[in-house]
Amino acid sequence: MSHAEDTGGTPPARGYLDKNEGTGTLYGVGLGPGAPDLMTLRAARLIGAATVVAYPALAGAASLARSIAADLIAPGTREIVIDVAMTPERAPAQAAYDAGAVAIAAELAQGRDVVCLCAGDPFFYGSFMYLFARLSPRFVVEVVPGVTSVSAAAAGAGIPLVARDERLEVLPGTLPDAVLAERIGAADSVAILKLGRHLPRIRAVVAGLGLTGKATYVERVTLAGQVILPLADAPAVAPYFSMILIARGADPWL
Ligand SMILES: C[S@@+](CC[C@H](N)C(=O)[O-])C[C@H]1O[C@@H](n2cnc3c(N)ncnc32)[C@H](O)[C@@H]1O
Repeated sequence: MSHAEDTGGTPPARGYLDKNEGTGTLYGVGLGPGAPDLMTLRAARLIGAATVVAYPALAGAASLARSIAADLIAPGTREIVIDVAMTPERAPAQAAYDAGAVAIAAELAQGRDVVCLCAGDPFFYGSFMYLFARLSPRFVVEVVPGVTSVSAAAAGAGIPLVARDERLEVLPGTLPDAVLAERIGAADSVAILKLGRHLPRIRAVVAGLGLTGKATYVERVTLAGQVILPLADAPAVAPYFSMILIARGADPWL
């Protein structure tokens, strides 16, 4: 079967494909931000047909990716769980991706395809990148894009992000205050991800720039328990799946 037939009719991007005949294909499948009906048809088709799925789980918690795809995973599907430690040091996470890549490679080498479940888009701060780096030199890998959490947050909050020649800055909240202040200050619109324990610090940076009134807090967008509030009214503590949007671009009517 050709890739075009395999993935529903649209030829995939070229460049890292068509290697190693006889081994399985690794699919990095974007699932969108949380609501299962924001998944692409291609992603749903691949998950429904999978005999092996792989997914990350943060620090032993339930995997968001698996929960999004749960209704599509057939009984008896083999599941490879990649337990990723949430530490500032990279070594524990790298070890987890090394081990995950070994388990996935064993399936691919036997000629079995593996569908890796990725919340949002795989190549937008997605952990699939670490598997891609380890496995794409040896195996055929195909990436299925997904709706990012930033797109979903903008849609959910009713905040158009950028128009015409405006710029969108996407920032991890883990950056130092001075870098955040400089980048936020220079941008038209901003999405700040990975809030967690950094929220109080980020709030102070946004307030220092006089932008609190233009900032919106978005938590668990499209999921049960979604919260969308002016940043001024946001809770003191943010979970991992939350972000801040700041939109101060020009009026798109202009
Ligand atoms: C490692 S990044 C993964 C991004 C993902 N690959 C994407 O395309 O959106 C994780 C960050 O994305 C944001 N995020 C992911 N899903 C979210 C959701 N449903 N609601 C709000 N923020 C979310 C949070 O800022 C979180 O800390």
